[in-house]
Amino acid sequence: MLPRPRVLFVCLGNICRSPLAEAAFRAEAAATGLDAEADSAGTAGYHVGSPPDRRAMAEAARHGIDIAPYRGRQVSAGDFHAFTHVFALDGDNLADLRRIRPADGTAMLSLLMDVVPGRQGQAVADPYYGDAADFAATWAQVSEAARMLVTRLGEGTLSPR
Ligand code: 4NP
Repeated sequence: MLPRPRVLFVCLGNICRSPLAEAAFRAEAAATGLDAEADSAGTAGYHVGSPPDRRAMAEAARHGIDIAPYRGRQVSAGDFHAFTHVFALDGDNLADLRRIRPADGTAMLSLLMDVVPGRQGQAVADPYYGDAADFAATWAQVSEAARMLVTRLGEGTLSPR
């Protein structure tokens, strides 16, 4: 029996990209019967306690998912023990997370798109200064990653370091 994955998605504000990644992952895990925990956080504290950006809520709603109850929070060193996998949405987030990660942190840390064959090293573009089309593009990226992630976690081929 594989240990139950506990997956954290991290962007800058935790109101646009990482809530959508969390939502896509939860939906894919539920659809395929993967027993996993998911959460999201931001490297910055600007939106602690806030609901997701209304454009992110609208994009999730287009896919039948209600993310209105999600609340922003800031990532912490303790998350590297509480979670088995921490995924950064872009390279800046990854660099920040490498600084925050404690030396004895047990979670596997990587860029989210690194799990998608052919998309290694790619960022999930920040839609914050964009429009609905940018949020739709974000959804396309995070849902593709979520499908691959759920497959890999189910196979046990994404192991914590
Ligand atoms: P996110 O987008 O990191 O995908 O949640 C942003 C949210 C807020 C800000 C920037 C990006 N901001 O500057 O407040």
